Amino acid sequence: MVPIQLTSIIDGNEVEGGAEYSSRNPSRCDEVVAAVRLADAETFRRAAESAKAAQRAWADVPAPVRGRVIASLGRLVESNKTALAALVTQEIGKPAAEALGEVQEIIDTCDFFLGEGRRLYGQTVPSEMPDKQLFTFRVPVGVAAVITAGNFPVAVPSWYLVPALLCGNAVVWKPAEYASASARAFAELAWRAGVPAGVLNLVFADGPATYDGLEQSLVAGLVQKVGFTGSSAVGSRIGELCGRHLQSPCLELGGKNPMVIAPDAELDLAVEGALFSGFGTAGQRCTSLGTVIVHADLHDEFVRRFDAAVRAATIGDPTGDVLYGPLLDEKFADGFEKVLGWVTAHHRVLGSSAVGRITGAAPRDGFVGDPEAGLFYHPVVLDGVRPGDEVFQQETFGPLVGVTTYRDFDEAVELANAPGYGLSAAIYTTDPATAFRFRNRVGAGMVSVNNSTSGAEAHLPFGGNGKSGNGSRQSGIWVLDQFTRWQSMNWDFSGKLQKAQMDVATVAPDLDYRLPRN
Ligand code: UN1
Repeated sequence: MVPIQLTSIIDGNEVEGGAEYSSRNPSRCDEVVAAVRLADAETFRRAAESAKAAQRAWADVPAPVRGRVIASLGRLVESNKTALAALVTQEIGKPAAEALGEVQEIIDTCDFFLGEGRRLYGQTVPSEMPDKQLFTFRVPVGVAAVITAGNFPVAVPSWYLVPALLCGNAVVWKPAEYASASARAFAELAWRAGVPAGVLNLVFADGPATYDGLEQSLVAGLVQKVGFTGSSAVGSRIGELCGRHLQSPCLELGGKNPMVIAPDAELDLAVEGALFSGFGTAGQRCTSLGTVIVHADLHDEFVRRFDAAVRAATIGDPTGDVLYGPLLDEKFADGFEKVLGWVTAHHRVLGSSAVGRITGAAPRDGFVGDPEAGLFYHPVVLDGVRPGDEVFQQETFGPLVGVTTYRDFDEAVELANAPGYGLSAAIYTTDPATAFRFRNRVGAGMVSVNNSTSGAEAHLPFGGNGKSGNGSRQSGIWVLDQFTRWQSMNWDFSGKLQKAQMDVATVAPDLDYRLPRN
């Protein structure tokens, strides 16, 4: 296979030069999917200049016409669904069925926003004075710098790009290096759908160059909105940088997502939910299950069934029908190795025949393909996790699920909130009162009842609290507040200066009046 040659694209032009980076197939590490040229900070800033130069004309395109471009993007993604999904599988190892789901999420996002082009409603508001009218308008923010992770190399970027473009903004998109080919393919579809070249600029760069390029762009006043999906540590640095420039970024960060299993839960349903939440995408979703918090009375039976389900799950070649494939990239494999070091003597390790890399010497029953060719890891179920454990507190971003127990509802809520993240939380219960009480008390931005912590639908607000974000929300109508700002207008047609608060008619009430008593 000849690797795809990729460079950054600014205003439709390829950027020459830059350090070489290989985006590899994590199922077959010796296969280079794309040979990528990484840009420097200066190139990032030039991309922001290009976006700025193109933004005004794009904002002048009527919103319903921009909506048609989004409609075309949705149709183009639909027609290229299998090819794009196959590329995602090849480049980051996402199992075929999940990769198709990921591409569907772009289509769903386009379907939602194509109609928004005919809404983007503002309001007409009454004035406190006669012959005066008040209005509100949504205006694009300007240039959005979008920096995305590679675990959802096309769907999560679409959550930024689609509404940003629909609202009349121009974009600099910096995808994860290890997902460059997928990003390039999605950008190509956007350009082919009619997004003007300068309105969507694609920059391949590493972390330090991106940070410096973003800083230069903010200093130069070229960027008005930053969207970032990635770790809480990097998100906090980006938030700090944006704060210095009086901007509030859209931050979609990590999670330590709990699943509470109440005494009245349907246990098999909970096991199925925990299996998919914990090990789907090899546990590399921001919404992946972190810790199961199971009622003490159900603990032994839950662990028995969960362990059996995890042992029986098929792992391996992601082009086949597997629960999960490899880790995304070497960097993530290294990170997961570190996480495995958090396993201590008081933990009971379950779920597989070994811990760590799946190899000839440490095989996994039913493995599909050649484990040593890629970054494949044994699933880990860690029973006996305690609140003081590193593995309880930190995001693990790999195929590992902790299990702990609780005795009463307050304790369950306390454990669910303890790590200080607040992205997604699930409860399994057959009692509606327990479900609503949990929703009320848990700190997560997204709550599932009798369902996986992962797998949010594309038109509900997506985002978290605490270490999971700064309160911004993506998706649906809620993301419009990220990519537009409210502008208010008042229009006085009385022919005289009417001063607000001062020239307002008054109606004198008789506040001393009391109803007669019988
Ligand atoms: C992410 O991992 O950054 O809700 C997003 C889900 C997916 C998106 C995950 N729809 O699990």
